[in-house]
Parts: sequence; structure tokens; C-alpha cells
Amino acid sequence: MLTQERVKDVKNHPYSNQHIGETAKLPSFRMDLRKYSEKEYNKFVTLNTVRDWSQLNWKDVGRPYEVKSKSKEKKNWEHVHNQPMDPHTSWTFFNKAFHEWFVKDVPEETQETKQQFFRSLRSFKIGEVKQALGSVVQLQLWNYVHRIQDGIWDPRGKRALFEGLDVNKPKVLFLGAAEGYEAMQLGAMYPGAEIVMVDYGEYCKTTRFAEFPESYPFLGSNPSTGQSKVHYKDDFSIEYVVDDIRNLKYGREFDIVLSVGLLEHFPDEYKHEVADWHRRFLKPGGYALLTTPRNQIRSRVYYRIMADVMNHTYRELMTVEQMGLYMYESGFDISRHGYIKVHNGLVCQPR
Ligand SMILES: C[S@@+](CC[C@H](N)C(=O)[O-])C[C@H]1O[C@@H](n2cnc3c(N)ncnc32)[C@H](O)[C@@H]1O
Repeated sequence: MLTQERVKDVKNHPYSNQHIGETAKLPSFRMDLRKYSEKEYNKFVTLNTVRDWSQLNWKDVGRPYEVKSKSKEKKNWEHVHNQPMDPHTSWTFFNKAFHEWFVKDVPEETQETKQQFFRSLRSFKIGEVKQALGSVVQLQLWNYVHRIQDGIWDPRGKRALFEGLDVNKPKVLFLGAAEGYEAMQLGAMYPGAEIVMVDYGEYCKTTRFAEFPESYPFLGSNPSTGQSKVHYKDDFSIEYVVDDIRNLKYGREFDIVLSVGLLEHFPDEYKHEVADWHRRFLKPGGYALLTTPRNQIRSRVYYRIMADVMNHTYRELMTVEQMGLYMYESGFDISRHGYIKVHNGLVCQPR
């Protein structure tokens, strides 16, 4: 008979090393313990399209695309307060809106939104029909992007991007951590990591990170055997700091400084400052890892349809060349660059 302890353990940690190689669509997310072959690796990360960053200039690479559609919440707030929404408030709205999607039971909600749509048809009210149809479309898109494609967390792409760093039990600083996914993926790949997550949204610590599923399996390694191993959130050493990045007092003590979806939220006059956040806390020889959303048609469509969930802040979509040029011009050497499913990725080091 299973003891209570063991039942809890199986519920929180349902996958073990015997599941490596498997993937499955669960109600709210995809679990993906597949490794990638070299061919697949090249599909996920197209590496090093630029040979010499010193030869690249803005005339060649063009400017990023600014996402102009804004959420209804932001527009209403600005109307009521008669002023632009400040970035901190914007992030508070964004994190609440985005989190609600991560916790959805998608198959269950699909049934409900479809029924609601049919009910709205019977009402003969055009406004209701439009709203209900919009909800069906949003949910279908979320299902495709998050549960089918796994484009947001993209564990195989992230692993491909993060692999091969010359670190041992690294200290990792995650800037603008939100739910903290990528630092946990790094923790699985580089066991013994000490992770510090920083976000000025209290809600990110108390809800987005706190409610990140304990049962989510991260594929990483086992340093004592050199084999692959499944890790979980509660295996990692994590400190979550609620503060503005600009207030941080750390010295040059981190092996890895990471951000995911941060750089593109700052207009050009602030890009050097954001780049500097990635240098300021790095040990000599340390790595700055960054990803930003790609400028591609499907991403433009996604941010348009999901505007009410995603667009509370200034946002750009850029190419990996544009992203790399920002970091190169801010004094970084680009050690690796490429794109994964919906993001560009850089591994860079201060010059
Ligand atoms: C776009 S999100 C990162 C994307 C994230 N992976 C997600 O799923 O939402 C950027 C995060 O950076 C945080 N942030 C932005 N500026 C910040 C600052 N100056 N100090 C601390 N956190 C900041 C926001 O609160 C937000 O949670």
C-alpha cells in the first residue's frame, strides 16, 4: 500500500527518468522530456548567421517593429487617470492577465467557450456574438501556441540555447523573472545552481512563481552519473527578490545573468542601460543570456489577437541581428546567437 508521503510524491513528481524521450499534452501545458537529435537541434537553433558583428550596421539590419495595439485595460486606465500608464503599473496588469492563461484547463474551457458562443448566437445580439467568438479564437490560439507548439516555454529550444556553458554550480541572476521558468531550466542543466530571481512585481513571487506547477518536469543532467535526469521546481535553490533591478546591490558575483523578454520593452534611449544590467553583476568570464520575441508575421498576429492579455507595455519585435547589434554596441561579444521557436536567443560576454 502507498503511504501518504509516497502518494504526495507521485502527485508532485509524476515523471521519472524512465519517461525521458516522452511528451504529452496536459490540460494546462505540454510536458516535454524529449531530447533533440543534431538535425532537430539545427531546426530549433539556427546558429551564427553573423560572422563579424563589427561589420553590421543599422542600415543593413533595419529597426525593430513596434507593437502598437494596446490592451483594453490599459486604454481604460489611461482614460480614467488622464495620463499614460507607468511601466510598473503596466507590468502589474500584464502579469495578472498572463497568469490567468497559464492556469487554464484548456480542454475544459474550450467546451465552455464554445457553448457560450452558441448561446450568444441564440441571443441575436451582435456585440455578444462578437465577444464570444473572440474568446473562442483566443483560446484556440493559446492552445496552439502554448499546448501544441510549446512556443512560450519551449524547453527543447531553451536547452539548445543554454547548453555547453563553461560553468559549475553557477550562481544565476534572472532579471524580470516573472514565473522564473528559464532559470529553473538552467538549474536542471547545471545542477547545484544557486538561483536569484528578481522582479518588481510582488504578484510574480506570490502567484506566478508560487503557482508554477510543482509537477512540471525539467530535463537536465545528473552530475554524479553524467546521464540525463528529471528535475522539479522544489529541487532547485531559489531566492525570489521583489525589487526594481535598478536598486540591486550585488557585486560582480554571478556566473550567468539571464533575461527573457526584457530588452524589447525599452525604447532605444534605454537599451544601453538594460544591456548594462546584464554586465554589472557578472563575474569575469560570466555569460549574459537573453531572449526576445522574433519579428515574424505569426508573432505580429499573436500580439494583435492577444492584445488584451499581452499589450500593457511598450513592446518591440526584433530580429536576432538587431538584438545582437544592440548588445554588441553596448560592449558585449556575441558568443552564440540564433532563434528558437518564437524567440531570438543570445549568449554573450562583456568585451
Ligand atoms: C515580459 S516579462 C518577462 C516575460 C516572462 N517570461 C513572462 O512569461 O511573462 C518582464 C518582467 O520584467 C519585470 N520588470 C520590468 N522592468 C523591471 C524592473 N525595472 N525591475 C524589476 N522587474 C522588472 C516585469 O514585472 C515582468 O514581470
